Amino acid sequence: MSQLSAIIIGANAGLSQTLARKLAAEGVRLGLLAADRPALQPLLDQLPDTTLCNEIDIFDPDQCRQALDQLWQQLEGAQLVIINTAANHQDLDLPWLADKMVVDVNVTGFTALANAAFARFRQQKYGQLAAITSIAGERGGASSAFHASKAYQQNYLQGLRLHAQRLKLPVTVSDLRLGYIDKMQARGSKTWGASLEVVADQILANLKKAKATSYVTRRWRLVSWIGRLLPEFIYNKRKYR
Ligand SMILES: NC(=O)c1ccc[n+]([C@@H]2O[C@H](COP(=O)([O-])OP(=O)(O)OC[C@H]3O[C@@H](n4cnc5c(N)ncnc54)[C@H](OP(=O)(O)O)[C@@H]3O)[C@@H](O)[C@H]2O)c1
Repeated sequence: MSQLSAIIIGANAGLSQTLARKLAAEGVRLGLLAADRPALQPLLDQLPDTTLCNEIDIFDPDQCRQALDQLWQQLEGAQLVIINTAANHQDLDLPWLADKMVVDVNVTGFTALANAAFARFRQQKYGQLAAITSIAGERGGASSAFHASKAYQQNYLQGLRLHAQRLKLPVTVSDLRLGYIDKMQARGSKTWGASLEVVADQILANLKKAKATSYVTRRWRLVSWIGRLLPEFIYNKRKYR
């Protein structure tokens, strides 16, 4: 395998597509996994013909694993797998089905894919597994299932990282904790929201440094630090949008 290869999961997201374009511009061969394969066409039109893609049903963990394995075989391995698939809802009535959907996507679907990617890297004996998590994983919040699912993802990634260290394998596991990307600016977060370009550039820079945990954008490290210090009665005074 002379050319570097990367797999991006959740490829229809704006962030995934920005990452894909930037990686392709660096000469990385891409494998894309997405729920809606036809919707990938406009992106594929901008990427080299060597780009491969496959469909996943995130609610079917076994199918997801098979689709990842298939893509892996077609690419003859990969140096990088980025998981960028996640669901969220914010309904203060906390409807069970909405919470269940978040758990299905962010916990069960995520684990199926992270576990499969780690197994491949273990077999290959090197590589980098990265997932886009969220600052929300560091403390509970109104979108209870979302916050909890991101905490799970962060903990699972740490477990994989420790496992790779015990196995003495050069497998990097990167937890990229996002603040807000710019689609949130429409909801009045101009101070904190960052454009997809900025977010993608910082993600790629952090991946190249093989950082275990990083905050994107960087200012969210400070928010994280303050958030952990705040007593609950103050933390809970935040306005829910
Ligand atoms: N947006 C933000 O400001 C923000 C803030 C903090 C953290 N994050 C995290 O950053 C990552 C990317 O965020 P984003 O806003 O770009 O995500 P997004 O577009 O809402 O979702 C990313 C991908 O997840 C899959 N997905 C989303 N909802 C789904 C559902 N209900 N059922 C099945 N699949 C679903 C889709 O995959 P396909 O492409 O396969 O269809 C989608 O492209 C996520 O992990 C998110 O939690 C985002």
